[in-house]
Amino acid sequence: MPLLARFRSAYHGIMGSWPHRPGARPALPSAKDTLARRILGSAALGLLVALANFALDRALDRMGIPRATTVLNDFAIGAAAAVLAYIWVSRQAARHAAALDEEVRLQAALDVERKRIALELHDTVGQTHAAAVLHLECASDALDGHAAARDDVRKALRLVRASTTEVRCALWDLYPEELQKVHLTGAIESMADGLLAGAGLSVRYSFDGAIRRLPPETEKALLRIIQEALANVLKHAQASEVRIDLRFDADHARLSVRDDGRGFEAEREAGSLGLTSMRNRAQALGGEWAISSRPGGGTEVRAAIPIPRPAG
Ligand SMILES: Nc1ncnc2c1ncn2[C@@H]1O[C@H](COP(=O)(O)OP(=O)(O)O)[C@@H](O)[C@H]1O
Ligand SMILES: [Mg+2]
Repeated sequence: MPLLARFRSAYHGIMGSWPHRPGARPALPSAKDTLARRILGSAALGLLVALANFALDRALDRMGIPRATTVLNDFAIGAAAAVLAYIWVSRQAARHAAALDEEVRLQAALDVERKRIALELHDTVGQTHAAAVLHLECASDALDGHAAARDDVRKALRLVRASTTEVRCALWDLYPEELQKVHLTGAIESMADGLLAGAGLSVRYSFDGAIRRLPPETEKALLRIIQEALANVLKHAQASEVRIDLRFDADHARLSVRDDGRGFEAEREAGSLGLTSMRNRAQALGGEWAISSRPGGGTEVRAAIPIPRPAG
């Protein structure tokens, strides 16, 4: 480490300054702590300057150059350095505190705005979708004798339902507290029912183990993985049944989405977007993801996501 950088880091250590890393939210030291550290650091710096000055005087003395200053003078210079250092560090600290305050205020404003957008989406797009689904269902019933038209209406119904699921997931992204209001199992069932309704597919659920609340990002990841796996079943599998199993053991949520469809050669599709996004979601939370499939033998998507242990 260069000398200057080493001095700076040692100095900041004593002075109680803290590195302002982006993304890190350091805790502010207590006022008493900060004051004591600042005084100690400034005094240490002052002493250092005085000693250096003193050593310089001695060296000049030895070289026969007349002493221009006295020991008292040296201490006066040291004290001035200490005062200057104290003022400088205090200003730095005030600047850091103001930046931290600003960050907190910005985050709060962001949260309010996210919530506002979420509610807006819910009350506009969400409600319109619900009404569209209702009308399309009525239209589908009324078109009993017109197979082709009824098929079209059912396709439209599926699209609107898929889009409703998208809106719901976007709401959870914007406003995770809303997800915390529904139970994960309920959210899975309503999402899957919405996606698969009218597709002529039977869906079976099994929830096992001590099903409990998970951090919102874990619940969201599980929902997104299920959503993509089900979308794949709908788009590609030509299956007649899909099973969604979620099991909670001591430290993992273990998910399996299995269909009895036509399967595919999984190795060939290893890098494709939907599969990669499922893998990334699991891995981002320290989990694992795998798909097994073979032509004619159905497909199974598995994910295991660690559950953080409660503190204490
Ligand atoms: N459940 C499934 N049944 C049959 N084929 C599937 C299934 N899931 C994925 N696939 C195959 O894997 C490919 C990659 O899937 P994915 O990455 O989700 O891309 P996309 O769904 O956009 O085509 C699909 O195009 C499909 O051929
Ligand atoms: Mg896909």
